[in-house]
Amino acid sequence: MIRFIKDSKSKSDAEHTFNRTGKVPEVNDRPRVFVTRQIMQEALDLVGTVAEMEVWPDEEPPAPEILRERSSGTDGILTNIMDRVDVALLDASPRLKVISQLAVGLDNVDVAEATRRGIPVGNTPGVLAKATADVAFALLMSAARRIGESERWVRRGEWTLAFHPLRWLGIDVHDKTLGIVGMGQIGLEMARRGRGFDMRILYHSRTRRPELEAEHGLTYVDLPTLLAESDFVSLHVPLTEETRHYIGEKELRRMKPTAILVNAARGPVVDSRALYTALKEGWIYAAGLDVTDPEPLPIDDPLLTLENVVIAPHVGSASLDSRGAMCMLAARNLVAGLQGRELERCANPEVYQMRDNSN
Ligand code: DGY
Repeated sequence: MIRFIKDSKSKSDAEHTFNRTGKVPEVNDRPRVFVTRQIMQEALDLVGTVAEMEVWPDEEPPAPEILRERSSGTDGILTNIMDRVDVALLDASPRLKVISQLAVGLDNVDVAEATRRGIPVGNTPGVLAKATADVAFALLMSAARRIGESERWVRRGEWTLAFHPLRWLGIDVHDKTLGIVGMGQIGLEMARRGRGFDMRILYHSRTRRPELEAEHGLTYVDLPTLLAESDFVSLHVPLTEETRHYIGEKELRRMKPTAILVNAARGPVVDSRALYTALKEGWIYAAGLDVTDPEPLPIDDPLLTLENVVIAPHVGSASLDSRGAMCMLAARNLVAGLQGRELERCANPEVYQMRDNSN
């Protein structure tokens, strides 16, 4: 049985229950879950095989107090990057057995606190790596070859001269140096794409990955070297306290004036004021951003006054296939958690160790 909440204001007259058989729902002891946004039906169907479910129907996320209220009394929640899963929510939800996040990034979830409470947190790595690297590479190419800027020019009706040998000159991508910051699955997919364009690949990562270096032609360097030597710097790190403003004025000033910065990770990894100045004053050539700080980017944000930046609205994983795979993986994680099984993809597997130790 799926319950869609029609209106967030008044629970009593706002909820209506929905039963595909058309029968009056029976009270039973199946686990209860809250799904914080509409997701693909197949994934909801899977969750519905084991649980009573409430699905938030609005495009806007539930306000924090509503999220807390809806989560209290549930055994599992299926969240996304706009839902704050913090101590207050966890305190309000003492029955919670699993948090399943529809994303690889978990900066909205207090994973450490969930771990302390023995609650497994699922996420969806792997299934979105290729799609996200595709978008990062598309932004890299658009910024280098000035696709966004020239497309706007065509639409403004300014294409009045068919061709000029010195017009719309950009920067070649092939045979250049690509510097990848963060060598997880998305970083590796980015490297593969770069190799396809005959690029030299440098990388910097919290954990060096020697096992990948020979096979994928990767060279590990420190961050200052990567910034100084790369023609393209592409960011693929999670947002943590250590990576907030990881790329600021000092780092941008180290880059070549012909270099392009790509961010398909999280907006706050880059100090956006410093980025604006860098783009405006020509410390770097251009930027391609799939993520911004804040999101959504307000229409009066200074970045939008610049031609040398291409901005996509956080669409890295937004392909039908990849979002479908993410929804199914998030649903499987949720079901596994409800059934007390190990999650297929778990961000805090230490909870299982803790359980073993306490048995
Ligand atoms: C993620 O998975 O973290 C993306 O940013 C949202 O799809």
